[in-house]
Amino acid sequence: MQICYTKDELRVALADLRRSGDIGLVPTMGHLHAGHMALVSKARSDTTHVVASIFVNPIQFGSQEDLVNYPRTLEHDLDMLRAAGVALVFVPNTQTMFHEEAQTIIETTALSTMLMGSLRPGHFKGVATIVMKLFNLFQPDRAYFGEKDYQQLAVIRTMVRDLDVPVDIVSVATVREPDGLAMSSRNSRLSKPSRAAAAILFHACKMGETMAHEGATADEISRQIFEVISENPLADVQSVDVRHADTLEEYEGLITAPAVILLAVRFDPVLLIDQYVIKQKQD
Ligand code: PAF
Repeated sequence: MQICYTKDELRVALADLRRSGDIGLVPTMGHLHAGHMALVSKARSDTTHVVASIFVNPIQFGSQEDLVNYPRTLEHDLDMLRAAGVALVFVPNTQTMFHEEAQTIIETTALSTMLMGSLRPGHFKGVATIVMKLFNLFQPDRAYFGEKDYQQLAVIRTMVRDLDVPVDIVSVATVREPDGLAMSSRNSRLSKPSRAAAAILFHACKMGETMAHEGATADEISRQIFEVISENPLADVQSVDVRHADTLEEYEGLITAPAVILLAVRFDPVLLIDQYVIKQKQD
C-alpha cells in the first residue's frame, strides 16, 4: 500500500493506478472502525483500485477543543487499510491541504443550515469544502460515504449535482454494534453507563419505523421517540426529526415518501447521532 503525504506524490501515484483500472475513494478522518471498513469492502467489490484519505479536517469542527481531542490512531488505521487491500492512502497535513490564504468555501445553502447544521454551525460548509478538494485531487470514479451521516451524504450528493462533479456517490448502510448502537469514532469517548444507555437510540428508531408503518405522522413519531429516549436520565435529547429521505424537508401530515429519522442526543459531553432510513413496510 502506497502512502502519499503531498499532492504531487498523490498525483503521480494516481496516474499510475488509473492506467490499470478505475478508482474508488473512501474519505476518512481516521480512527477507523468496522463502519469505515464496510465502505472499503463495498468499494473493493465494484472498483479496481480502492484509495483512501486520512485527514482530520479543521474547518468542519466548531471548537478547537473538539479538534484537539479528536482521536488520532494513524498506525492502526494504516494497518487496517493495508489488510483490507487498499492501494493508496493520502495522509496530508493541514499546511499541505490548505493554502495559507485560502478563502473559498462550498455551501449547500438550505441543507447545510437545517437539522444538524443548526446544532453545529459551519460544519457542513467545512465538510463540503474538504470533500470537493478531495474530489479534485483524486478525481475518483466513485466515492463512498456511510448512511449513518445521512445529512452529510445529502449535502455531498447535492453539491455533486449542483456543481456537475463527475463522480458517482455510493452510500453504504450503517454498521451497528450487537446492541444496535451505530458505529462511530465518538463511541469510545462514552462512559460505561452512557455506552450501555446509548443503545436506546437504535431501539427508538425501530419503534419509529413501526409507528410509520402503522400510519403515524412525522410529528407523532418524533414526539414519541423524544419521550422514550428522555426517560433515560443520562440522555440529553438535542433533536428528533422525521424527514423526507431525498430532500430532508419536513412532512406535512402523513409520511408519503421514503423517510429518515434523524436523532442527536448528548450522553455526558458526547454528541451521538443516528440517522435511520425507514424501510418500506413488508406486506
Ligand atoms: O465522514 C467523515 O469522516 C468526514 O466528514 C469526511 C467525509 C471524511 C470529511 O472530512
